[in-house]
Amino acid sequence: MKNAKIVLGVSASIAAYKAVELVRLLVKEGAEVRVAMSANTGQFVTPLTFEALSGHPVYHTLFDSQNSAEMEHIRVAENADLLVVAPATASMLGKMAHGLADDALSCLHLAFKGPVLVAPAMNEGMWGHLAVKENIALLKSRGVEFVDPESGELACRVIGPGRLADTAVILDKIRSYFNQRNDLTGIRFLITAGPTHEAIDPVRYLSNPSSGKMGYAVAEQVEARGGEVVLISGPTYLKPPSGVEFKSCKRADEMNALVQEHLENCDVLVMSAAVGDFAAEKLEKEKIKKQGDEGLVLKLVPTIDILLEVAKRNSGKLVVGFAAESQNLLESALEKLKKKNLDLIVANDISAPGIGFQSDSNQVTIIDREENMEHLPLKPKREIADLLLDRILARLKRP
Ligand code: CTP
Repeated sequence: MKNAKIVLGVSASIAAYKAVELVRLLVKEGAEVRVAMSANTGQFVTPLTFEALSGHPVYHTLFDSQNSAEMEHIRVAENADLLVVAPATASMLGKMAHGLADDALSCLHLAFKGPVLVAPAMNEGMWGHLAVKENIALLKSRGVEFVDPESGELACRVIGPGRLADTAVILDKIRSYFNQRNDLTGIRFLITAGPTHEAIDPVRYLSNPSSGKMGYAVAEQVEARGGEVVLISGPTYLKPPSGVEFKSCKRADEMNALVQEHLENCDVLVMSAAVGDFAAEKLEKEKIKKQGDEGLVLKLVPTIDILLEVAKRNSGKLVVGFAAESQNLLESALEKLKKKNLDLIVANDISAPGIGFQSDSNQVTIIDREENMEHLPLKPKREIADLLLDRILARLKRP
């Protein structure tokens, strides 16, 4: 787990002492571990214990002037690959499910956009309570993963389910996340990327500055996570990721034909291509010559809208669109989500400096069909791809 950045959230259970061992083992395997504690965890284990083992300050209070000044929880949350909450008490599960943020750990959880793994520990009566079950179901529906507790003698001397899973089992689950996160196995993705070129004459075309990096990053991450990819790409300078079935095209109508051909055999369509909206009405066979000082009037006609064609087919596939906007970002993205009948839309503001088309990073908002909006901080496109795939997977798993 070299270089894996893990936040271990420890809540106030008698099993908190097992988290001490977990930190030791994770550090031994090369992970960089930061510990966050809930308000009462200090009753069981001191922050100093975790600090000594992790080699980093422990985030355990909301109202420490130094931590608040640095917005510590946001910073810790932004840099981590995975949040593991172990042990997670019934109370912590409730806070996580309902978005409460009244201590260091629950605050950090809300600020964290990446994958979350939870190992609950509680009394067997609490574990069986409908409120806890419903909170767990809610968290699972958002893609949170669980390592269920074991049965055995509990701290309250009762025998039953509720004991924190064995440290080795939790460690294994964390290892599998970093080593072979094959969570997209068997899922077939159809991904479009890059710009389109609409020729005007043999040497000129209409296009846009899309680099294709976002779509290629999604394709790479699907591959890395065990999924299957058909990547349909407009002209780019990028190397097709290994393992994908690659189809190249130039014009919007060529891209449309490829999308419609492959749609049936996919589960998810990710339309990240910046498809040109207009093409020249007439393609000149010969190069257009300058006519003295006279300008050139070109008549443009709309290209085919690929996503609208997909919507017409009522294919039942999970469809993700992108919206690159220079004004009214969220309103325009929402409009497109509805008009194009999308499950998710990824919106980004192309007028903001340092993000978007050519850059390696992006700052996006993911909006779902239910109009929930998730504003992601500036991140490398690879990380955005992973977060998007987490959201897609959570939707696919929904009953
Ligand atoms: N798209 C498409 N076919 C087109 C144009 C766009 O399928 N001819 C897809 C893009 O791949 C993207 C989404 O639609 O996923 C939004 O693209 P955009 O061009 O921004 O949307 P438009 O509906 O064309 O709106 P406008 O250009 O007016 O902003």
